Amino acid sequence: GRSRAMDHLKALIRDVPDFPTKGILFKDITTLLKDADAFGEVIDRMASRYVDDEIDLVAAIESRGFIFGAPLAYELGLGFVPVRKLGKLPAETIEQEYTLEYGSNHLEMHVDAVQPGQRVLIVDDLLATGGTAKATAQLVERLGGIVHGFAFMVELTFLNGRSRLEGYDVFTLIQY
Ligand code: PRP
Ligand code: MG
Repeated sequence: GRSRAMDHLKALIRDVPDFPTKGILFKDITTLLKDADAFGEVIDRMASRYVDDEIDLVAAIESRGFIFGAPLAYELGLGFVPVRKLGKLPAETIEQEYTLEYGSNHLEMHVDAVQPGQRVLIVDDLLATGGTAKATAQLVERLGGIVHGFAFMVELTFLNGRSRLEGYDVFTLIQY
C-alpha cells in the first residue's frame, strides 16, 4: 500500500518525545526537509496529484504550510495566498476562530486574496485534529472561493481530522 511505499520518507521524520509538552510524541519534519531528494519528492508527488486539475490558487497556512505551499504553487504554475495568524496581514482581512486542544486561535486572510468562484487548493504540513484546515476552508468560502481540496504531507489518522473535513477531497502522503 501507499504507507509502505512512503517508508523511505517516514524514516526521515524524527520522533521527539515530550514536545511541546510531556506525553506528546512530536513528528519533526525538519529532518526530512533538509534532505533535498526527499523534499523534492514530496513536492513532486503533491504536484502530480493536481497537475491535471482546474485550480486557480494555492493557499497555505502559516507557518509550516508555507514550506510546502509555495513550491507547490510554483510547480503547478499557480498564484500563492498566505493564510496567516492574527495581526500579520497589512490590508483589510477577514478572520476565523478555530479551537485548539486548550483554548482557541484565529487565522486571517486578505479580503481580496480570493475572488468569488476561484478554486483554491489548501496546503499544510500536517493534518492533526483538522481545526486549522477547517478554519481555512471557512475563510476561503466566506470570500466566495471554492475549496478544490486539501493537501498535507503528514496525517495523524488517530486524531480523526479527516472526519472534520468531510465532503472535501483530502490528500495526504504519509499516514501515522
Ligand atoms: C500545526 C501544523 C498544522 C496544525 C495541525 O501548526 O503545522 O498547521 O498544527 O493541527 P490541527 O489539525 O489540529 O489544527 P501550528 O499551529 O503548531 O503552527 P506552525 O505551523 O506555525 O508551527
Ligand atoms: Mg501549522
